[in-house]
Amino acid sequence: MTAVHTAPGWDTQRLAAWSGPHLSSVEAALSAWVGVDAPVKLGDAMRYAVLDGGKRLRPLLVLAASEAVGGVAAAALRAACATELIHAYSLVHDDLPCMDNDVLRRGKPTVHVQFGEADALLAGDALQALAFELLTPDDGSVEPTVQATLCRLLARAAGSQGMAGGQAIDLASVGLALTEAQLREMHRLKTGALLQGSVDMGAACSQQVAPQALAALSAYGAALGLAFQVVDDILDVTADSQTLGKTAGKDAAADKPTYVSLLGLDGAREQATQLLGEALAALERSGLPDTNALRALAHMVVDRDR
Ligand code: IPE
Ligand code: IPE
Ligand code: MG
Ligand code: MG
Ligand code: MG
Repeated sequence: MTAVHTAPGWDTQRLAAWSGPHLSSVEAALSAWVGVDAPVKLGDAMRYAVLDGGKRLRPLLVLAASEAVGGVAAAALRAACATELIHAYSLVHDDLPCMDNDVLRRGKPTVHVQFGEADALLAGDALQALAFELLTPDDGSVEPTVQATLCRLLARAAGSQGMAGGQAIDLASVGLALTEAQLREMHRLKTGALLQGSVDMGAACSQQVAPQALAALSAYGAALGLAFQVVDDILDVTADSQTLGKTAGKDAAADKPTYVSLLGLDGAREQATQLLGEALAALERSGLPDTNALRALAHMVVDRDR
């Protein structure tokens, strides 16, 4: 990957030290909340889809953004889990035969291969519903106005103006040569919206954030979100299935328009580097005192190998 000119601030070890305890809390919370009291097969499919796998990037973005603005930890943990549930549901549906028809995800057979299509569909539905239930506790731990904001941000990121809309464009674009603007819009919606939404939700865990900081964080999320899918397109070409935990080379095989098919590998890498620069510049103008975790996560998104 092309060298990035802005110094990371935190090295990978410092990021690992920060993220370790957060990953443990998210894992424990998801395990306590997902698939509990569900009919057995549905509950098993939900837990299979969510637990023991994935980079947990969206939860980490929620938690890092919340910390950057001094957000309420109980709200942030719920928001972190909610974003991962929407993400996991989107993967279950993305892998279905009627969509990308994939058999490998997070190093395991996909949910429909393991449990059948009907239960995969239902597991996705139930994960989406659970995400919103988690955002609306009735124990007084999260202010009602914060609950409402978190629900609105997540609904927008997941729906027809976000992930689902982007997935519809993706399916309609098979075999087409999109312009760069069209491809950017597809990626912004199908993947960028939930990553940007994760940052916005983290920021919404405090009710005292300056509008300028909120806007800068959102711009950071938008740039990082787009960079993430550009790198996903690159890794589909450059990485192997074992490292990715999902089938490599699927985009070209399915004739999907990607940043690599449009710009070539070097052009796609240039795009990712440019978007990283945009994300870091947005953090700098946020005026927030400590954005080290957010900076390190942006570098991780672009430098990752899986
Ligand atoms: C994969 O997302 C699907 C896209 C949105 C490109 P991730 O690469 O974050 O998948 P996990 O969560 O680590 O499995
Ligand atoms: C998926 O994009 C985006 C989602 C909303 C799930 P891809 O189809 O490229 O994701 P992978 O490569 O299967 O993880
Ligand atoms: Mg897809
Ligand atoms: Mg896919
Ligand atoms: Mg992909």
